[in-house]
Amino acid sequence: MNAADAGTWTLGDRVVNRLGFGSMRLTGNPDPQVPIGVLRRATELGVNHIDTATYYFDAHYATELIRAALSPYPDNLVITTKVGFFRDDAGDWHEDRSVQGLREQVEDNLRRLGRDHLDVVNLRIIKRPGRDSIAESFGALADLRAEGLIRHLGISNVRVDHLDEAQAIAPVVCVQNNYAIDNRADDELLRVCGSRGVAYVPFFAIAGSAREGGATTDHSEAVAAVAAERHLSPHQVRLAWTLHQGDHVLAIPGTSDPAHLEQNVAVAGIRFTDAELARLAG
Ligand SMILES: NC(=O)c1ccc[n+]([C@@H]2O[C@H](COP(=O)([O-])OP(=O)(O)OC[C@H]3O[C@@H](n4cnc5c(N)ncnc54)[C@H](OP(=O)(O)O)[C@@H]3O)[C@@H](O)[C@H]2O)c1
Repeated sequence: MNAADAGTWTLGDRVVNRLGFGSMRLTGNPDPQVPIGVLRRATELGVNHIDTATYYFDAHYATELIRAALSPYPDNLVITTKVGFFRDDAGDWHEDRSVQGLREQVEDNLRRLGRDHLDVVNLRIIKRPGRDSIAESFGALADLRAEGLIRHLGISNVRVDHLDEAQAIAPVVCVQNNYAIDNRADDELLRVCGSRGVAYVPFFAIAGSAREGGATTDHSEAVAAVAAERHLSPHQVRLAWTLHQGDHVLAIPGTSDPAHLEQNVAVAGIRFTDAELARLAG
């Protein structure tokens, strides 16, 4: 069992295994050794693409756990982070896509991760149709990229017109959006990303409609049936389904549970038949 079993994708000039890891769920345990152990085990199992953000913090900062677990970083590790928001010391969320705010958020990521540049930075936005241009803020990140602080850029929580806007400014290596077998609003964006050579990175593939609340228990009959036949969990079927939506789709399942980590990495080796995919699509 290895994350490489899912195959690879190239983000700019960085090759990653398509089965990666999301760090959002790591921060709640007061004992940092538990999430540190999960991160180290993930990399032992071949995970070399980790998603994070400095606003992932509770008992600990996800970025600082990553540094404690994995620094000095192996050359093949790609850490993707997100800016556009920050949380203050009280934990309250603030959107800040100003030029200065984005620079400060990039510098905060550099400091907490202990790096001199960031591999991939996603501009994370809130969609407000008609008044949510990303040109100015994406341009600010393109300037930080030109300065050498960022290697590659992505965008998150976006539509096709945001991708158009961003690609007119600088190369985009990934789009990170909410997408799952029972949340198909992004089917077209996923296809467009594939046609443009841009990675599509779904979040909440396992959580589904439960979102921040944790893994969904609301499984379709088809998901439950395929899971039972294959001796998989429904959550593994949900995750595996995403990897079947295109070679450019990268998984970043989040977990703080070592057993779930192993189950999620095992998904890298699952190949559904066309008949199974048709049932799942139905
Ligand atoms: N761009 C954005 O706006 C955005 C938003 C949200 C998240 N993200 C990123 O996307 C990543 C993925 O999202 P996510 O972590 O919220 O959702 P997810 O991977 O869809 O689901 C995680 C939830 O499912 C549980 N889980 C994981 N593997 C499981 C398994 N094999 N069996 C049963 N339950 C399982 C986890 O709990 P346990 O800890 O108990 O396993 C956790 O509650 C995040 O970690 C974060 O890096 C990005």
